[in-house]
Amino acid sequence: MYLAKTIIQKNVEGNSHKEQLAIDVLTGLCAMPKNLPAKYFYDDTGSEVFQQITKHEDYYLTSTEFQILNRIKDQLPEEIGAQEIDIIELGAGDGHKSQLIIDGFLNANCKVNFYPIDISEKAMLMLSENMTPHPNLTINGVVAEYFDGLRTVRNQSKNRQLVLFLGSNIGNFDRVQNQGFLRRLWMSLNASDNVLLGFDLKKDVGVLTAAYNDSSGHTREFNLNILRRINAELGGNFNIDKFKHFGVYNPVLGAMESYVLSTEEQEVYVAELQRTFHFESYEPIHLEYSFKFTQGDIEFLCQQTGFEMIEQYSDEKNYFVDSLWKVVKEK
Ligand SMILES: C[S@@+](CC[C@H](N)C(=O)[O-])C[C@H]1O[C@@H](n2cnc3c(N)ncnc32)[C@H](O)[C@@H]1O
Repeated sequence: MYLAKTIIQKNVEGNSHKEQLAIDVLTGLCAMPKNLPAKYFYDDTGSEVFQQITKHEDYYLTSTEFQILNRIKDQLPEEIGAQEIDIIELGAGDGHKSQLIIDGFLNANCKVNFYPIDISEKAMLMLSENMTPHPNLTINGVVAEYFDGLRTVRNQSKNRQLVLFLGSNIGNFDRVQNQGFLRRLWMSLNASDNVLLGFDLKKDVGVLTAAYNDSSGHTREFNLNILRRINAELGGNFNIDKFKHFGVYNPVLGAMESYVLSTEEQEVYVAELQRTFHFESYEPIHLEYSFKFTQGDIEFLCQQTGFEMIEQYSDEKNYFVDSLWKVVKEK
């Protein structure tokens, strides 16, 4: 039995996880408009609820990307052409998509060293339970933020690298941040390494809106869970019944936006911060952007950040693209 080994890495600034959460909550709830960083969605409950979202028919993103990856999994080893490969996945989640890609390389008799990186320990545990053992597969999971994890992995990795950033996680960055993120990724990689990025495409607003307001209320639970997390970890007294999930498409930004709205004027106390926060009636807390892309946006990003486009893989409805890029560096 080959089990995933999980290395737990500490935050680079030396802050404990709880201190960092406290700082980010204080900063976010003092801001105007109020906001909370989306990375805090993924505590144990959040990671489990996210899994339910991905299985819901309204949330087309997971099933569509799964179809694409299933179709291309045997082409990728041919495109990349290595006998041993280090597959590094940023925000790997439960590993279902990773398994498809890994299977493609194993079927082509390639040795695979898989390095999933995820901020959520729960996601890493789910992943290690889901992965199918194979004699040509080693798994080293890192529970860390993207680039802290990448630094750890880069010290261990000696082979050609394929970095996966799936699920349109790239859409959580705005159109300036995403260039910074990809350029930083480029800086961490060697010439001829590859990245496979999942992009959700612009589409009918009804389809988008349904995906982020699923009919079973999983997204609602997922978003409100961040308030529960503040209650549990920082001694907050958010009354969840007095907040409402609100997911809406902003056509100017080209992004879905997720908020929770305070349904009445109220005060919330957070013991760890010894601070009371005032909410006006229907005041929002901004939680997340999910930017949507055109094929042109993807080509532009690729060009701007130092990569060469190898292939764009899409689905029949043209809902989603997995884009394979190669790192280009001057000798
Ligand atoms: C939207 S889910 C996508 C999961 C998977 N890649 C997929 O496509 O189904 C985002 C994943 O990224 C992780 N994540 C979010 N922010 C992160 C960060 N800053 N650093 C590392 N992992 C992060 C979450 O814990 C979660 O498992």
